[in-house]
Amino acid sequence: MASSSDPWRNPLQQELDRMRAVVTTESGELVIGEVPYPEPEQHQLLVKTIAVSVNRGELLRAQAEKAGFRPGWDFSGIVVRQAAIGGPPVGSRVVGMRAIGAWAEYVRVPVTSVALVPPEVGLEEVSTLPIAGITALGAVDLGGPLIARKVLVTGASGGVGYFAAMLATIAGARVTAVVRRPAAECADLLAGVETIVSASSGLEAARSGGPYELVIDTLGGQTLSDAMTMLTPFGKCVTVGVTESSHSTIDVERFFMTGNATLQGLVAMRDLRGDGPGITLERLVHLLATGRLRAPVGKVADWEAIDEVARGLIDRSFIGKAVLRIGQED
Ligand SMILES: NC(=O)c1ccc[n+]([C@@H]2O[C@H](COP(=O)([O-])OP(=O)(O)OC[C@H]3O[C@@H](n4cnc5c(N)ncnc54)[C@H](OP(=O)(O)O)[C@@H]3O)[C@@H](O)[C@H]2O)c1
Repeated sequence: MASSSDPWRNPLQQELDRMRAVVTTESGELVIGEVPYPEPEQHQLLVKTIAVSVNRGELLRAQAEKAGFRPGWDFSGIVVRQAAIGGPPVGSRVVGMRAIGAWAEYVRVPVTSVALVPPEVGLEEVSTLPIAGITALGAVDLGGPLIARKVLVTGASGGVGYFAAMLATIAGARVTAVVRRPAAECADLLAGVETIVSASSGLEAARSGGPYELVIDTLGGQTLSDAMTMLTPFGKCVTVGVTESSHSTIDVERFFMTGNATLQGLVAMRDLRGDGPGITLERLVHLLATGRLRAPVGKVADWEAIDEVARGLIDRSFIGKAVLRIGQED
């Protein structure tokens, strides 16, 4: 517990003894419940949450957890207590990432897990960045120099795929963004990307645009199998997701006869260790602040609507990402 002389807590004492957070119920719903307030450790700061974004992966994990589980990876907000070791001072606008529990009125987080947000960037839009942007940027970085190189991105109307297509474009690549919907539906979202291909009946529609130096696959299944036949001899396929299926059958001979192509996995949560995700978030925030990257906000709602929004995201009733408002910026 914080001491009674704690400057941030005293005026808020009653409010913070219990705070509200999204929890899972026995029947698998997401509801807002009461939980103990977070007490930061030495290396952690305390953030009043303004907005969070919702990701497919965390929703699927929440469904698999017991009642009382607290999901939530991405958040943005205002620092209300500086970490004992330093870092962003009280009043700083930040975006950050946690392994669980970010869908709450207050979050505690290591200083290495946040990046500062400049005034010209909205806290709702910046909340879309963490897990999807970090995964996408990690995958693009794995592709090496991309100027005028051909890159294929699958699931490009979703969070990770959108950021991967845009970041590879920013890196100078000639990107083919693959979507399941009619391409025209995604034209605004993916403005700036060289080609949008609708693969409603399979990835074959993208073959003529290749071969590709880099494939960033968010789908797995047959899409991954097909994508691995579209690489250049030294091309790389980075697999990050399994929205279609976690099982793929690979024509091994066709793959190795391509030459020296590689298949590489990537998991963004590893960024929560080591240097932390703050460094990567800083790069993404810079791109938003300079207008080179747009936040793919497809839906904004109050967090009371979490269960409905979660169902909409899993059912893909909108493109881009969902943002939930939790608090208000003063
Ligand atoms: N490796 C990591 O560290 C990491 C990090 C984050 C996410 N992920 C994984 O990456 C994947 C994407 O996550 P996300 O948050 O970007 O999901 P998302 O926002 O829900 O996007 C899903 C995308 O997949 C498309 N899609 C859905 N079902 C499909 C199907 N059966 N066939 C073809 N396309 C389909 C959607 O197209 P429509 O718009 O047409 O529905 C959309 O473009 C998930 O598997 C997630 O678990 C991995």
